[in-house]
Parts: sequence; structure tokens; C-alpha cells
Amino acid sequence: MASIVLKDIVKKYGDGFPAVKGVSLEIADGEFMILVGPSGCGKSTLLRMIVGLEDITDGDLEIGGRRVNEKAPRDRNLAMVFQNYALYPHLTVFENIAFPLRLAKGTFSQDEVRRRVEAAADTLELREHLDRKPANLSGGQRQRVAMGRAIVRQADAFLFDEPLSNLDAKLRGQMRTEIARMQRRLGTTTVYVTHDQTEAMTLGDRVAVLRKGELQQVASPRGLYEQPVNLFVAGFIGSPPMNFVPGEVRDDVLHLPFADVPLDDRLRSVVGDRRLVIVGFRPEHVEDAALVEDGSRGVAFRADIDVTEWLGSELYAYIPFETNPEVAKKLEELDRELDGEGLRSQVVAVLSSESRVRDGDTAELWIDPARLLVFDPESSENLTRDEEAARRIDAETEEERRAALERAQRREAASGGAEDRERSASARGAA
Ligand SMILES: Nc1ncnc2c1ncn2[C@@H]1O[C@H](COP(=O)(O)OP(=O)(O)O)[C@@H](O)[C@H]1O
Ligand SMILES: [Mg+2]
Repeated sequence: MASIVLKDIVKKYGDGFPAVKGVSLEIADGEFMILVGPSGCGKSTLLRMIVGLEDITDGDLEIGGRRVNEKAPRDRNLAMVFQNYALYPHLTVFENIAFPLRLAKGTFSQDEVRRRVEAAADTLELREHLDRKPANLSGGQRQRVAMGRAIVRQADAFLFDEPLSNLDAKLRGQMRTEIARMQRRLGTTTVYVTHDQTEAMTLGDRVAVLRKGELQQVASPRGLYEQPVNLFVAGFIGSPPMNFVPGEVRDDVLHLPFADVPLDDRLRSVVGDRRLVIVGFRPEHVEDAALVEDGSRGVAFRADIDVTEWLGSELYAYIPFETNPEVAKKLEELDRELDGEGLRSQVVAVLSSESRVRDGDTAELWIDPARLLVFDPESSENLTRDEEAARRIDAETEEERRAALERAQRREAASGGAEDRERSASARGAA
């Protein structure tokens, strides 16, 4: 296992296109790091430079503390984990897992191959499937076979490039859990590329958000969600996405398209002397005023509801709004970048499923101004970001990660011990 350190990594392709523009990132030994961003932002390029499939134009890449820029892929001891299409249908699970060892002709004895494949199969709970063909396995089992190949090589790190993007939603969810569980269990350094924010949020210890070849923010999923550095990260992370509306500042009041929010100390200090800002709020932070017990902290407002969707666990309400042309341009740009659906001129509220708000209502809604994020319309910076809170969140998440890793390894040690006892008991029985 090893740490992976990127220092100001640059990639210019032959045609001069700068795909990666100086990315610095430290991935700790055993960490699960996600690289996320819209299509074309340079994720695969970065991953391919780490494995050695693509030259590094500038900067340093260190694996396990050693600079490896000039090392060939096979000398970096990293394993790219491919999706199930990379399994050989005519080979058994055993032979599929053994494949990389067989490739290194003469390096491993038959016994060594068997030992390694069986050890991997035990970890991956594939022991009873070793003689089967991939076609007869479930999606989750196939994913594990693909990981088994990486394990037998005893690679220092696993690299994944959008391994789940061709799967349907249900299988994707299942595989996601599978990968997370295996990574915890093995504690192997992992870099995982995806354009899917849900995968990023659920899988990683930390997430690096990329935009046009530049790193925007590296933080725990909760850090990104609660303390995004800018409009891009705020809009990319979260589903349904964060709402953005223009906020016009007049007479100590922040005028939103449907609500007037008196400036409190926090808002006043972040707004400064700006007349126009972009205000962001999460859909789940809007509530049905009728269901709020103590509304005194917040601001109630009336909004014309266009459509509602009742999902059982919650109610989505869509609220169209008139936008300021200056802000509209900025938000349209953002929407294009985020591969969005051009829905930036309506607000989404995720209300309690008990809400009686219905299509066509003028509803009384409620929001706590402490939940409002304020962005600079020029620089896109999150003016309300709280550095101290961000540090606290990441420290907590790091603590949780260590605890989870220790738990997984203790469990592993305990079950390994039990198996050994079983084996020696049956050996005694046989003797
Ligand atoms: N071989 C190449 N030659 C020139 N440009 C490339 C090449 N491969 C990728 N690019 C460009 O580099 C950018 C980043 O690509 P890529 O790393 O594949 O993005 P992602 O994986 O985030 O979708 C894209 O604009 C892409 O067109
Ligand atoms: Mg890619």
C-alpha cells in the first residue's frame, strides 16, 4: 500500500490542449479518494497519468514517497480495476482472477497462484464460485472478480475510471456498496473517477472536485455539501441540486424573488457593499410553514407552486421565479457547465410528505436565513463559507474514517482467526 502525491501536475496534449492545469493532491495511504467533475474536466487524464498510461507534461508524481514520473506502468505497481466487460467469459472465476499472475510468465509457481487466488477469493467471498463462469454470476459478484484481479497482484493502489457508468440504477447502487465495503476491508489506497455526484458522495473518504482541468475543492463529502468554496461546487454536489436565486440588497433587506430577508449580522457582513448577490439554498431547507413548530427564527413567504411530486417519503414542490438578467446569464453558464437541464429558473423545495401543498397553490413556505449561502456574482466565491466549520467537519470525517477502518480490520482479524481455528480443527478431525 502507498500514498499518492500529485504536485502541480500539468497535462498538455499533443495539440496543445491543456487538459490538466496544475493539480496538487495528497492521497493518504489507505485512503479512498474520488475525482469528480463534469465530462471533459480532465479526470481520466489525471488517472491515466497516475497509472502511467499518459505522459506527465509538468509537475511531480510520487507513489509511496518516490517520484515515478518516468516509470513504466508495470513498474508503478498500481491496478486499474475494469468493469465486468473486462472479464473473460470462457475462463472460470479462478482463471479470471489468476490472469495477471499467468501473464507474468514464470514468476509465480502453480502453488503460489493457487494460494493467492484463494486468499483473494476468501476476502471477496468468492470461494464457492471459483469454478463458475462470469456469465453465471450476479453483477456484484462480477465486480468482485474484477477486484480480485487487482488483489492478487498485491498492487499498492486501486484505480477506477467510471466503473459503474454503463449499469442500470439498481445494479449501480448495489455495486457501489460492494466497492465501498471491499475498500474498507482491504484498506488499499484507491482513486476513483466518476462524473456522478451521488457516487462521489457515498463512496469516498474525500472528494476532489475538478472543473476544466483545475481543482476546485478537496474535502469530505459533508465538507463539500455544507461548506462549498464556490458556485460550481455548490451546484455540482447535491441532488436535487442547490437552488440559486438573485438577491438584491436594498435598505438592509435581501430581496429574493419570492421572499424578503432582513439582513442579520452574518448576512450583512458577507454581503458588504454589494447590491446584487447570488443566493443559494438547499431544497430540503425550505419547509411548509404550516408544519414549522417554532417559526420565529426564520422567514415565511408566499410562493406560487407550479407542480408537486409526492414521493412517499417527501414532497417535491416546483416554484418558478422571475430572475434578474445579470444573474440569469451567470446561472445559465453554470448550468451548461454542470450538464444541467436548464431548470435554473425554478426553485425546488423538498417538503415533508405530510405537507398539504398542491399544484397551483399559493403556498406559505418557510426558510431559516442561517441556511442561506451567499455567492459573489463576479467571482462565484461562497462568501458565507465558514473556514472553521469546514475544518471541523473534515476532522470529524477523518476520525470516523479511521474508526471505520479499524472496525473493519478488527472484524477481518476476528473472522480470519475463526477460519484458521476451523481449518485446524478439521485437519485434526481428518488425522
Ligand atoms: N488524446 C487526446 N488528445 C487531445 N485532447 C484530449 C485527448 N484525450 C482527452 N483530451 C481532452 O482533454 C480533456 C479532458 O479529457 P478527459 O480527461 O478524458 O476528461 P474526463 O475524463 O473528465 O471526461 C477533454 O477536453 C478532452 O477532449
Ligand atoms: Mg473520463
